[in-house]
Amino acid sequence: MQETSTNGVATGTTHAKVIVLGEHSVVYGNPAIAFPVHSLQLHAEARLGGTGLNVVTPFHEPREEREETLALERQLSETAVTNTLEFLGVRPTGIEVSVTGMIPPARGLGSSAAVAGAIAQAVARVYGRELTRDERFELVQSVERVAHGTPSGLDAYATTEQGPIWFERGVAKPLRVLSQPRLLVADTGIVGHTSEAVRRVRELRESSRSAVDALLDEAAQLAADAGHDLATGDLVALGLKMNRNHAILSELGVSADPLETLVSASRQAGALGAKLTGGGLGGCMVALVDSEAAEQSVSEAMLAAGAKHVWPVHKEIA
Ligand code: MEV
Repeated sequence: MQETSTNGVATGTTHAKVIVLGEHSVVYGNPAIAFPVHSLQLHAEARLGGTGLNVVTPFHEPREEREETLALERQLSETAVTNTLEFLGVRPTGIEVSVTGMIPPARGLGSSAAVAGAIAQAVARVYGRELTRDERFELVQSVERVAHGTPSGLDAYATTEQGPIWFERGVAKPLRVLSQPRLLVADTGIVGHTSEAVRRVRELRESSRSAVDALLDEAAQLAADAGHDLATGDLVALGLKMNRNHAILSELGVSADPLETLVSASRQAGALGAKLTGGGLGGCMVALVDSEAAEQSVSEAMLAAGAKHVWPVHKEIA
């Protein structure tokens, strides 16, 4: 058994992620590009003591969301604790885990992976163990399977890696970017449904294999070319690829009216590109802008069009 941390208390921190290109197509082994959203962080604190398992997260507080969403979040947090304890081979008499901070759940920002990652880190550290990248990934995936069935693994890396990543076939690599693009994430305020969206794409592919494969192949090519755009700083080209990726996602049936409204509003206000991000069927969209002035006008336009929140991706907090 591992030593416990000296004072029996330890913490873990993760952040939200935004997929700039390649969601859904990534499930079929194609590449995707994701950026960390450092302004949306979660901190888990694990403390040995008491009796049994006591998990408190911001998600346990009453909100406007549906009961089943809250129940799933509770289940995810508890699964993260028990899977980590099992992995460590320890059985404490009591452990308390609290999660503070907020990543809006079920919005395509990786909240379930972020909760699992922060809890796994904190619980391992309370036993004096620093999880390796692979160990943490496997633990987050074990929790993500409860949330999403067959997660690609993108969220598990993107919510813990400090910089943008290129993810393909279960492998995440740091992505070289010439300069941090100005990205804005806007929340429709409507709960998304990643597992249902993934199922819909799978069913559509079963019924229209060649048409869907053509769309997935095109999304894969867009992500590959966007990697080049980011490396060379060609943001106009990147924006066009985001627009096309959004059209593909709409054709795959995972967009929703509130997403379309925010995507159109941001483009009309001068965004270089805009698309839904994450699983879709609600949740968030991401817009690319080229200046501080455009950031201001695009944010205002999205809020006026009904966005509940707008977060800048590029402003990192210390
Ligand atoms: C979820 O953030 C992104 C999807 O591609 C699902 C996955 O990668 O597991 C829709």
